[in-house]
Amino acid sequence: MLPAVIAPSILSADFARLGEEVDAVIRSGADWIHFDVMDNHYVPNLTVGPLVCEALRRHGVTAPIDVHLMVRPVDRLVPDFARAGATLISFHPEATDHVARTIDLIRDHGCQPGLVFNPATPLTWLDHTLDTLDLVLLMSVNPGFGGQRFIPSALDKLAEVRRRIDASGRQVRLEIDGGVKPENVAAIAAAGADTFVAGSAIFGSGDYAATIADLRRLIGEGRENSRS
Ligand code: DX5
Ligand code: ZN
Repeated sequence: MLPAVIAPSILSADFARLGEEVDAVIRSGADWIHFDVMDNHYVPNLTVGPLVCEALRRHGVTAPIDVHLMVRPVDRLVPDFARAGATLISFHPEATDHVARTIDLIRDHGCQPGLVFNPATPLTWLDHTLDTLDLVLLMSVNPGFGGQRFIPSALDKLAEVRRRIDASGRQVRLEIDGGVKPENVAAIAAAGADTFVAGSAIFGSGDYAATIADLRRLIGEGRENSRS
């Protein structure tokens, strides 16, 4: 199992002070920054684009930036985000015409490709793509908004993807996104996730360092329990 990664979602940060907010969560022990891109088309909300990603890099952010594209179409934005300093770029398979081509495009631009599954998206999309991915992202809410409640069926789906990744023999990260909290993160880790997005749980807490430390301890406990 890969070391656990905690990726605060900027969606719940104070956008008027975004650079400071990102610095604060990294200083508080976060590993990656989860960067939610919404287009008011694929999802009913609108957030930020490559300019803001680039601004974070110029501000001095060196942590991996995990770009989660909730946009349709996808390909047009990939080169822009690569230039803006994205580390990973994930997209929803139903939002592009040629999934394999989009994965190649992300890799050709020097970024790590990820495929994202909504709660009702079947895992069959992995059949012909898993060998080319660095990340599988399972949504545990329907995409579009922060602060929603975790959908429990994501746990069985995580376990299924964990089996597929292990059988592949490749090092593919398994990320969970939506409603992740200290109360459920141990069960999520036990089900096989190794990368944890948390927006409101971290940015909505008074003490980022304490919350991230809590999440990390509970992830460790979940991993221990799944072994015993
Ligand atoms: C939802 C986004 C998530 C969201 C997570 O569409 O992809 O990253 O911001 O926020 P919380 O952790 O508050 O559910
Ligand atoms: Zn996200």
